[in-house]
Amino acid sequence: MVDPNPKVAGKGLVEIESAGIETHVGILEERARKLNEAYIKHVTTGKPFVTLKLATTLDGKIATRTGDSKWISCEASRRVVHRLRGRVDAILVGVGTVLIDDPELTARVGRRVTYPVRVVADSLARTPAGAKVFAQPQGLTVVAVTPRAPVEKIRKLEEAGARILTVGEADGHMSLPELLEQLGRINVTSVLIEGGGRIAASALGAGVVDKVMFFIAPKIVGGESARTSVEGPGISKMADALQLREVTVRNVGCDLLVEGYTCSRDL
Ligand SMILES: NC(=O)c1ccc[n+]([C@@H]2O[C@H](COP(=O)([O-])OP(=O)(O)OC[C@H]3O[C@@H](n4cnc5c(N)ncnc54)[C@H](OP(=O)(O)O)[C@@H]3O)[C@@H](O)[C@H]2O)c1
Repeated sequence: MVDPNPKVAGKGLVEIESAGIETHVGILEERARKLNEAYIKHVTTGKPFVTLKLATTLDGKIATRTGDSKWISCEASRRVVHRLRGRVDAILVGVGTVLIDDPELTARVGRRVTYPVRVVADSLARTPAGAKVFAQPQGLTVVAVTPRAPVEKIRKLEEAGARILTVGEADGHMSLPELLEQLGRINVTSVLIEGGGRIAASALGAGVVDKVMFFIAPKIVGGESARTSVEGPGISKMADALQLREVTVRNVGCDLLVEGYTCSRDL
């Protein structure tokens, strides 16, 4: 495929050909596009490619009624997630997940640890300064706040090592499209959203998700108040449900992994 970067488009091909190397364009192009999907999206739109990953029980829960979520998916699924984390530029969670799970947001594959940018969407700067996201030896921790966040709390987060991004609001929440645009500007080409249900709902509602990955564990936890994978108001008509395309389903350990693209993917 031709490099879609407007700065170089076609020039590489010309150079290879002028060096006497025979070139063919378009062979297995669909697969090449998939391989380069994050790069293509970033270079053509300035925005990162967004994957929404969730681990749910068979009854759609992402935690029990007490908020406990360790572990829903099996070890094999968690290994897949760590490999995925190792391939993205940033991992994004809502402050709810930080307050309850206190995740490190690192990628651990075998003994190798890598450090994608850790992003917390936190309108009012409620992230504790002692959170594990600040205790990592490498990598940037971004806390995205709205203009309503108290200055004193922002200062404490900066002292803890956070890079603060101030993001406007839309529909009563931080605007995720604006946050992603800001991340795109600091060269984040791909983002993995790792829940919880509120961020997932906002991201899907705002149409910023390109790809969805649901690890479905053969477990049932029940409970009306237990968080589900996509919260928010939801839709009223089934005909309006978000239909995924290019869907694949496979077994990972004892879980099922359902992957698909949303219609916002425009490659
Ligand atoms: N199974 C899984 O895959 C998985 C993954 C992650 C978490 N979890 C579980 O999910 C539970 C936490 O759920 P949660 O829904 O509270 O977590 P969340 O979605 O990570 O965080 C929600 C919070 O994020 C903030 N936020 C910032 N921008 C937002 C936006 N545009 N839209 C919505 N919220 C925004 C809001 O607080 P402010 O208004 O203060 O900004 C909101 O209360 C925990 O029990 C955790 O264990 C499960």
